Amino acid sequence: MPNKLKISVFLTLLLTSTSSIIYAQQELEVSMKRGKDIYSTNCTVCHMANGEGITGAFPPLAKSDYLMEDTKRAALNIINGVSGEMKVNGISYYGAMGAYGALSNQDIADVLNYIRNSWENKGNIVEVKTIKALRK
Ligand code: HEC
Repeated sequence: MPNKLKISVFLTLLLTSTSSIIYAQQELEVSMKRGKDIYSTNCTVCHMANGEGITGAFPPLAKSDYLMEDTKRAALNIINGVSGEMKVNGISYYGAMGAYGALSNQDIADVLNYIRNSWENKGNIVEVKTIKALRK
């Protein structure tokens, strides 16, 4: 390949990859914004606005090892509810959380994107199709 062509191929690849990274970042921010509203309406009472929960009663989402360890499990816990022992950041919880399956797939993806990327959490974007597949 002539050098000029090599350079232009390289530049094209560079441009398309950076623009798709920027696009994904914007998509995450838009989803988190919607997720914040869903969180405030449905989750704040127990997990608190700052995601800290109430030690011993409602587990934290902020810096939660349990939450960040398994996205699909987190989604299923939100869709179906969860009860019984759960260890979060070394503390055992024996609580029960109701099901939020009435929320749309978009809502669940959005709230997950919000909680997985707030309060110093950092996670990959969760897509609507992932939630849809989990419902089956
Ligand atoms: C009525 C209180 C209550 C509400 C409201 C509530 N949760 Fe929970 N949540 C809990 C309890 C209690 C547990 C732990 C259940 C257990 O011990 O098995 C839990 C566990 C979790 C977990 C896994 C544990 C962790 O810390 O990572 C996630 C994720 C979660 N909730 C997200 C949500 C989201 C998102 C909403 C809103 C859509 C929500 N919760 C609303 C009480 C609540």
